[in-house]
Amino acid sequence: MVEVRVRAAAKINLHLGVGRLAADGYHPLVTVFQAVGLYDDVTVRDADAWRLDVTVADHIDAGGVPGEGNIVQLAARVLCAERAEAVSVEVAKAIPVAGGMGGGSADGAAALVALDRLWDLRTPDEELLAHAATLGSDVSFSLVGGTAVGTGRGEVLTSVADDATWWWVVVPSRTGLSTPAVYRHWDELFPAAADRPTGAEAVLAALATGRPSVLARALHNDLQPAAFDLRPDLKALIRLGESLGALKGIVSGSGPTCAFLAADAQGARLLADALRSAGHADAMACPAPVHGATVMTA
Ligand code: C5P
Repeated sequence: MVEVRVRAAAKINLHLGVGRLAADGYHPLVTVFQAVGLYDDVTVRDADAWRLDVTVADHIDAGGVPGEGNIVQLAARVLCAERAEAVSVEVAKAIPVAGGMGGGSADGAAALVALDRLWDLRTPDEELLAHAATLGSDVSFSLVGGTAVGTGRGEVLTSVADDATWWWVVVPSRTGLSTPAVYRHWDELFPAAADRPTGAEAVLAALATGRPSVLARALHNDLQPAAFDLRPDLKALIRLGESLGALKGIVSGSGPTCAFLAADAQGARLLADALRSAGHADAMACPAPVHGATVMTA
């Protein structure tokens, strides 16, 4: 194999229950991930020297993408520590950087799958998932996609049957929010938080109905107050989206991307148009759930 391209999707958290900071430096979570149709592509090729090129879509701040220590390089290291071959890597980013949509995690998952194929390692799925968890809390979900409950740090996954097609309008932000900073602020806001996060029963029951109006009422993100504090403009954005026809708006993960649930594809297109007309030029309609990391060329 001389070149492999793998596509991985963004995520939103339909439920994000956060428990008090644990001794390992992470917060115990109960979350429901859903993969949405907004993608990064990672292409790997045999090369004489290690090389990383990142190209970004118009709505992305290229300055936020790490060069040294990029998650793609870390993926290469965990996948095959002893391997000496250099690879050239191209990352084409459409998922917002530091946006709360798991963009870095998507790149890590795509890189694991691409390098596994390039080097013909045939790593068993369980091993790939274990590698993913070492790269970041959301990387495991980026591998599997669809809809899943995440516990632990978010890396312990149980797939959820989710047969409907949901339509979201995603509004990225030109400046990102640091995930650790949002969690730190949440610690300050809620020093007496319970050890155990709130459960996802309401969202799981709502998903089973297949009805967007029911899911809208169940969406929940414990990090939202912390994200609003750090970025007060997000509150106004959510109000705007809801006034323009969204069933419900939420901050995606640790933000600052906001996600608006629409009734159907047509509703999502109209809402994205309305948000763009209102000055949010990067508003995009996306279906969900979509697949995890997928080989596009072999
Ligand atoms: O696992 P990942 O590298 O994506 O996490 C980034 C940071 O987000 C962690 O260093 C931690 O500060 C915070 N985090 C957390 N609890 C989680 C997941 C992430 O506190 N469950």
